[in-house]
Amino acid sequence: MTPGESTGASSDFADTLDSFDLPGKSVLVRVDLNVPMRDGTVSDDTRIRRARTTVRELLDKGAHPILISHFGRPKSADEMSCSLERLVPSLEEAFGARVRFVGTSAGTDLTSRIGMMPPGEITLLENLRFNPGESSNCSSFASELAATAHIYCNDAFSASHRKHASIVAIANLLPSCMGRLFQQEVTAIHAAVSQPSRPLVSIVGGAKISTKISLLESLLARSDCLVVGGAMANTFLLANGNRIGRSRAEPSMIETAREILRKVESVGCRVVLPTDVVVAQKLQQDSAPRSLNVEDCPDDLMILDIGPGSVATIRGILEGCKTLFWNGPFGAFECPPFDAATIALANVAASLTRSERIKSFAGGGDTAAALACAGVVDDFSYVSAAGGAFLEAIEGSDLPGMAALRKSRQARRENR
Ligand code: 3PG
Repeated sequence: MTPGESTGASSDFADTLDSFDLPGKSVLVRVDLNVPMRDGTVSDDTRIRRARTTVRELLDKGAHPILISHFGRPKSADEMSCSLERLVPSLEEAFGARVRFVGTSAGTDLTSRIGMMPPGEITLLENLRFNPGESSNCSSFASELAATAHIYCNDAFSASHRKHASIVAIANLLPSCMGRLFQQEVTAIHAAVSQPSRPLVSIVGGAKISTKISLLESLLARSDCLVVGGAMANTFLLANGNRIGRSRAEPSMIETAREILRKVESVGCRVVLPTDVVVAQKLQQDSAPRSLNVEDCPDDLMILDIGPGSVATIRGILEGCKTLFWNGPFGAFECPPFDAATIALANVAASLTRSERIKSFAGGGDTAAALACAGVVDDFSYVSAAGGAFLEAIEGSDLPGMAALRKSRQARRENR
């Protein structure tokens, strides 16, 4: 399978809401409500807002949505900081409808606990991960969920790299489809990976090579230019014999970085590493940062961002490309002023996209947060709400959630 092939065109591999007669039907909708919280309230409601399209469509067509989701990685069912009940006000505001919370997501009596579902209202079950059957893809847990509904709709692309009961086992038990956000995600990923307009430039940043080897290899094979940023670039600089002071890096990955650099020539992709960097004593706002050439990094300082010369080089590269794929920030963007390169280049990409000179695709938790900080999410062609699932799909993996939907559609067709 070539990278991205598994995603297909959105309507090609799984059913959608259009495949079903919805009025009066109960629809179990797997959403991803794993949102960041601060002081007990939602600090970034992107995933909730993106779930709105499917939920509103179901309500408007007279169906009863029963929302199911995980939240965090609770160790037990009494970890109430992981309860979904706290999200009810945010969900009601985003969906413009009453949300009735059912304090469980398991049990043979689940259907009677859900009870009557008044038209126009949404039912929300408790965190699926309070039940060990979720993570073990247990079919009896999936059966308890399936008994509550006529149709299963997966709108949690961002959790579809998990082989969990609400993603995989459930799709064997009910007529299944993808939701509108899921469709949007696979369509955008398909557009980014299959026959992108060239030149294709990929930016990969973030902390570690070790978590992104397959992504780097897959992008190297497909891109005309690969720009490396973040602490990951420090390991490449080490591999090239540069000194990087006290900077974060992975010395154990130096040989891997060298292998990647060796492959560059055979695949005809240009790799761009920083030529200048912003250094400081510590990761702190008032730490007197300064820019210098990569060759001049002193032993007692840390590289915390790429420098203005590198930003100018990358700006030129973006101005000459037709498609941009971006995963991972350039510097320690969570601590200004080390967000400067990421924000500057996010604005360059946004402006090139607005003037229709490039198509820009971005994804991954930190990347989406960095682009949100720069205020450019809506200017990109597409910013994925997914983290791990987005990366796996870009690498060409057949996500368990996608395979389950494909299989469910095949079974439905065979039974017709
Ligand atoms: C995510 O935040 O990437 C998804 O919600 C998946 O969460 P998980 O990594 O805890 O499975």
